[in-house]
Amino acid sequence: MLHAMPKTGASWDALREEMIQRGSDDAKWRDGKTAVYVFNAGDDVADVQKAAYTMYMSENGLGPLAFPSLKRMEEEVIGMGLSLLHAPEEAKGTITSGGTDSITMAIKAAREFARSEKELTGGGNLVLPYSAHPAFDKAASLMNLEVRRVPVGDDFLADPAAMADACDEQTVMLVGSAPSFPYGLIDDIAALSEVANKEGVWLHVDACVGGYIAPFVRMNGAPIPPFDFELPGVMSMSADLHKYGYCAKGASSVLFRSEALHQHMVFDTNPWPGGRMITPTLAGTRPGGAISAAWAVMNYLGEEGYRAKHKLVTDAREKIEAGVKALGFEVLGEPQLGIVAFTHKSADVFAVYRDLYKKGWFASLTTQPPALHLMLSPVHNEKTDLYLNDLAASLKAAADAKPSEGFEARYS
Ligand SMILES: Cc1ncc(COP(=O)(O)O)c(C=O)c1O
Repeated sequence: MLHAMPKTGASWDALREEMIQRGSDDAKWRDGKTAVYVFNAGDDVADVQKAAYTMYMSENGLGPLAFPSLKRMEEEVIGMGLSLLHAPEEAKGTITSGGTDSITMAIKAAREFARSEKELTGGGNLVLPYSAHPAFDKAASLMNLEVRRVPVGDDFLADPAAMADACDEQTVMLVGSAPSFPYGLIDDIAALSEVANKEGVWLHVDACVGGYIAPFVRMNGAPIPPFDFELPGVMSMSADLHKYGYCAKGASSVLFRSEALHQHMVFDTNPWPGGRMITPTLAGTRPGGAISAAWAVMNYLGEEGYRAKHKLVTDAREKIEAGVKALGFEVLGEPQLGIVAFTHKSADVFAVYRDLYKKGWFASLTTQPPALHLMLSPVHNEKTDLYLNDLAASLKAAADAKPSEGFEARYS
């Protein structure tokens, strides 16, 4: 679609008005009725994000010599992530633009590592649980790797024995999620770590959702099982700052057990007249604002702040769990963090979803089994009664509605 550029510019006041207008049909996330895509930790955190982002918005993380400020902030953000996730002293990581970026770069590193360690006759393969995020498939298609998705068990968790069976000489990475997006459940990473050690395969833990919430939920007293670098098979992790780290969008962390493993991610080249270029991630230019906002939010909240915000999330999840069970839904597995998915034996959950959508709720669905899915933020703690009342009404409405045949659950 072509769109002509205006001959003359407009005033910022007019543009701002128009932009506000344009957002009028968007999901009403500020009302606390959106439980996907947005992590709403409250106005105070949003203010810090915005102010800190704009302070370094023009600076570029590509140039650490020009901007030692950003380099230092990145090192400190990564250092905090590594400490939270029990990394050893020699561990190293980098800020990326998001979870997909972190996963792609971890796969690139694992592939280079495999190439240096074993004879890869083909492109290599990735062994994933069925519940793993499609970012792995995207990266695999870029790097010509085969994806082996292994069914999850009846508990909706990765099946370590079946995943061991799927590994062979050409496997460059084994994956577990902490938690998976569809079910919100932490895979048995300890068992996967054993498989990885036995098979001599790189284990990546996708903690894009859980990396910056699970450690604090554990500090708050929940029995979160080991899922990070404390397990010896874990070679890399992805942990998104812009999810439950409550940082501005465009920020994730990709973390490696050692500097030597991290080195496999780095691209170092000098094929042109512009001089040698060394970049750790896929990006060339790296937005300074995403780095500075991450640094500011982490220091603004600190351990106590995260524990308090995440307590609101887990309290909200517990209230939702109790409420949906009372309405006859069945919660998938035993969620411990901020995602909960729930199915119903007799109701058409897609029809329930459609009715909730009409009431202003925007959330996700899970297809196997068909289930409603919420990714909760701190603000939802005050919205649980509203949600449960609307859910009860939508459940009644769905009983009389047309069946939702042909309804496609979409994540984007
Ligand atoms: C478990 C998991 N991994 C990876 C990703 C990809 O993250 P991003 O959307 O930041 O690329 C997501 C996104 O929701 C996710 O839930």
